[in-house]
Amino acid sequence: MYDPIERLQTIWSQAKNNPLLQQKSAVCVSTINAEGFPDGRFVDLKEISQAGILFCSGYDSQKGRDIARNPKVAMTAWWEPVEYQVRLFGVAEKIDSSLADKYWQSRHQSARIISAHMQQSLPADSLQAIQENFKNAQAQWQEKMVPRPANWGGYRVIPQQIELLRFEASRLHYRECFTKTGSQWHYQVLQP
Ligand SMILES: Cc1cc2nc3c(=O)[nH]c(=O)nc-3n(C[C@H](O)[C@H](O)[C@H](O)COP(=O)(O)O)c2cc1C
Repeated sequence: MYDPIERLQTIWSQAKNNPLLQQKSAVCVSTINAEGFPDGRFVDLKEISQAGILFCSGYDSQKGRDIARNPKVAMTAWWEPVEYQVRLFGVAEKIDSSLADKYWQSRHQSARIISAHMQQSLPADSLQAIQENFKNAQAQWQEKMVPRPANWGGYRVIPQQIELLRFEASRLHYRECFTKTGSQWHYQVLQP
């Protein structure tokens, strides 16, 4: 049996190195909302390691509020050039502030300005109001480093189950499911 985290790292790296994959790190994160509905949106996958699977976001966004209420999340990706669907669920934990700083610094200036000046997921008066807010903030900061707001950071998803599906045109997909019990991964092939 292979380690599922190493498998994920290999598959993602093969997908990323393929020029046909345009959004190299888009992955759907599903949370459970206040009404109990699952709700998914894409985020940028930052890192896959034995410590977990990392993405960044605003902590006061809808997903942030969902995770604060219920840290159980799912992640789903379809990496077309390598024909793999990845599907996992686990528990999300906030990353520490020094790691959040590192990712904040790696973002481009407009992303930093937007995260610092807007309240992700809250209603806005109009598209025009958003654009004006952005223009004013750009004029204020220009190329100066915008400090990371305390409510921006990241989450590490500690997976409890990971399924790798190798897509087959015949639909005889090859599904490998890894479930964690304690520190041990249990391996099971699933019918397509
Ligand atoms: C390809 C792609 C990548 C995205 N990456 C992120 C990301 O890394 N972090 C983030 O907060 N939102 C990201 N977004 C925006 C989210 O999909 C979403 O609109 C936003 O986070 C608000 O979601 P929420 O209201 O459920 O919290 C991305 C969207 C797309 C299409």
